[in-house]
Amino acid sequence: MTEIVTIQGLQKKFGKFQALRDVSFTVNAGEVVGFIGPNGAGKSTAIRILLGIMKRDAGQAQIFGKDVWKDSLEIHKRISYVPGDVTLWGNLTGGEIIDLFLKLHGGGNKKKRDYLIKRFELDPKKKAKGYSKGNRQKVGLIAALSADSDLYIFDEPTSGLDPLMEAIFQEEVEKIKETGKSILLSSHILSEVERLADKVAIIRQGEIVESGSLDDLRHLTRSAITLVTEGDVAEMTNVNGVFDFEQKEDQATFSADNKHLDEILMAASKLGVKKFESVPPTLEDLFMRHYES
Ligand SMILES: Nc1ncnc2c1ncn2[C@@H]1O[C@H](COP(=O)(O)OP(=O)(O)OP(=O)(O)O)[C@@H](O)[C@H]1O
Ligand SMILES: [Mg+2]
Repeated sequence: MTEIVTIQGLQKKFGKFQALRDVSFTVNAGEVVGFIGPNGAGKSTAIRILLGIMKRDAGQAQIFGKDVWKDSLEIHKRISYVPGDVTLWGNLTGGEIIDLFLKLHGGGNKKKRDYLIKRFELDPKKKAKGYSKGNRQKVGLIAALSADSDLYIFDEPTSGLDPLMEAIFQEEVEKIKETGKSILLSSHILSEVERLADKVAIIRQGEIVESGSLDDLRHLTRSAITLVTEGDVAEMTNVNGVFDFEQKEDQATFSADNKHLDEILMAASKLGVKKFESVPPTLEDLFMRHYES
């Protein structure tokens, strides 16, 4: 598999404050990687280092096998980036700014530009200083998505967009993904990450605390089970891997450690299963575990 982004043991200090302690993850060709974590965890700092805006103190950071600091000019020809607070030249119109971005990027795809302007319902003739936050965001997104890049880096790309526009962004990212391009997506909208990402990396206080495919991460955690049995369902409390057991009349709800699912199913089946529902953890559940601990 071709590694598009490689970060290994990344560290960054601001004065005495260690913003990044140990950040490692990879984005492979054709992958969408969700980069998530609480406010101040270090997501934007890591992304700024990747973009060559900021120099790392230690560790490795490469895009397309090239060093993000030394080879940034070369790398930039092949990447698109949208921050959460797109700033624009106030006296240019949205359309002019999109074209300027695309020109800097070797032209881009004019047809796709026009299509996206329609899709995001942007009035490209308005001067940027008159745009709302959401409209400024759209300008950045349209420019980034019409450029033919190999890697797209998004840092809170849909901040300020209404839910309708957010959904359009997701559809357009899916289209880009289908063409085999790579995407690094940092977002607080976990449903967005859940829908788009093949892998996630969770950062907390400058360290990656969990990473892998969503399926892998789910295996490490618990499913929410609802169970009704012929026999006394309360017996389930003694089974390995059963947590937070609650019973209402003959119906039990509990969380089941996925490692012990087999034991749990056998125990339930001995009691005679009348109803069994299992809901896997959402990305939000996975994320909250790190928030809470
Ligand atoms: N230029 C800077 N100078 C000093 N401290 C900084 C600088 N940039 C970031 N920090 C600090 O580094 C930490 C990580 O910030 P960063 O912006 O990377 O967080 P984030 O994960 O992107 O958060 P958010 O979800 O709020 O965007 C924060 O404590 C922040 O205050
Ligand atoms: Mg940030």
